[in-house]
Amino acid sequence: MEVRVQAGDIAAIQADIVVVNLFEGITAPGGGTGAVDSALNGRITELIALGDITGKKGALSTFHTFGAIPAPRVAVLGLGKREEFDSHKVRDLVADMVRKLRKPGIKHIATLAHGGGIAGLEAAAAAQSITEGALLGSYRFEQFKTRKNDDDDNASGIETLTIVEDDQVKLNPLEAGVARGKAFADATNFARDLANTPANHLYPSTLADRAREMASIAGLECEILEEADMLRKGMGSLLSVAAGSDQPAKLIRISYHGTEGDGYDLALVGKGITFDTGGTSLKPAANMHAMKADMTGAASVIAAMQAIAALKPRARVVAIAPCTENMPGAHATRPGDVVTAMNGKTVEILNTDAEGRLVLADAVCWANELGARHIVDVATLTGAVTQALGDVCYAVMTNDDGFASRFEAAASAAGEKTWRLPMFEEYDEQVKSDVADIKNIGSRGAGTIMGGKFIEQFVGDTPWVHLDIAGMDTMPADNGWIVKGVSGVSVRPMINLAESIVG
Ligand code: BES
Ligand code: ZN
Ligand code: ZN
Repeated sequence: MEVRVQAGDIAAIQADIVVVNLFEGITAPGGGTGAVDSALNGRITELIALGDITGKKGALSTFHTFGAIPAPRVAVLGLGKREEFDSHKVRDLVADMVRKLRKPGIKHIATLAHGGGIAGLEAAAAAQSITEGALLGSYRFEQFKTRKNDDDDNASGIETLTIVEDDQVKLNPLEAGVARGKAFADATNFARDLANTPANHLYPSTLADRAREMASIAGLECEILEEADMLRKGMGSLLSVAAGSDQPAKLIRISYHGTEGDGYDLALVGKGITFDTGGTSLKPAANMHAMKADMTGAASVIAAMQAIAALKPRARVVAIAPCTENMPGAHATRPGDVVTAMNGKTVEILNTDAEGRLVLADAVCWANELGARHIVDVATLTGAVTQALGDVCYAVMTNDDGFASRFEAAASAAGEKTWRLPMFEEYDEQVKSDVADIKNIGSRGAGTIMGGKFIEQFVGDTPWVHLDIAGMDTMPADNGWIVKGVSGVSVRPMINLAESIVG
């Protein structure tokens, strides 16, 4: 779908449908909605009086215009209560709207800036949210369907969404907002594509190829470390996970240099398990297929770099993605094995299914070697986070409250909910091992915190945030900008953070 801005009168526009809007409680619409109402001889006002159009959040009343205006259909989108309205509502409303309008005959939607420039919402922010809502809400993963979606006749879907604006002053901010929204949404959809791809179509080497391809198009530096390189660097923890698979592990680095200088202002490190069987500590069969998305962290950091390259913040950012399968092959790691990570710490592996932290351990060590001044790691790390938080928000753990607050601000600016988990030092006891420095599982609950506590052993003094997104990785249904399948959470927050990390 293409989102664009056009100057002019919404009532005069040629499109398959014109979508105007209404706040709850308004009986005499103004602005673009008022203009369409006048062109329709007050039909909208009439329908409001009848109680058929209410302005309730998300309500969409569609009717035909029978030649009264060039567009054959009009829809009135309810914006809800004016005092509760913000850019996040816009994103979700537009996402739900484009899905509802996925009908035969609707290829081109013309709509308003939905409160952009009024209701305390900047025109640019409104346009960004509209664009994100349209592109994220209409996303579908159909690469492996030979027949496109059976549940609607409009296989190709909506092709164009035009934001129509009659105020010349708002055109530039609207254009800028659309461009930003496109960068954010395209990156998120790229992450979704990678993570939704089945594991027999996306091996570590495939993921590395896709990363290299994106980097070359975006003009980013890309390096792929092979297992021999990892061995030389002493990455015994990462290699212990790769041992059970015939597929070679890949360690992906993508770098963006927005300023001169050394090191990186921000390292984004993502778990890239292209399939997690559990290894020797084999998972039960039920729902194991969901583990094809155990590389969402890697997909998210790779995809975030695409938007960072487009938006060009004044910062130096590196993405690191340790990628491997976790398989129970003949050479697989056994419970009880002891391995040595890049920073020299020895790790007793008591459960080979707690592999995410093992690959992230060496990856964050490498981030430090590369001179990272802040580290964010993102991972589908624990089933326990679903017990704690469900699929409404994801967990944040940190060694630096100030830095975590900055990430949380970046997340809430993207309309994503997070929740901080405690990192009390009492929890450190539980990752101590009898035979090595540390072990990869705890034993007295707090499963998600244990994952964070393990990774913390490798970050040193660098301000660090750990995101456990396992609960929100694969979503059961469409809901606003989130669609069924891989959600793509954390991508837009990381882009926001990269823009705010310096200064
Ligand atoms: N990839 C899983 C976590 C996961 C579970 C992600 C459900 C998405 C949905 C991870 O590698 C894992 O298996 N974790 C174990 C850790 C345990 C052995 C300490 C878990 O959560 O059971
Ligand atoms: Zn696992
Ligand atoms: Zn895993």
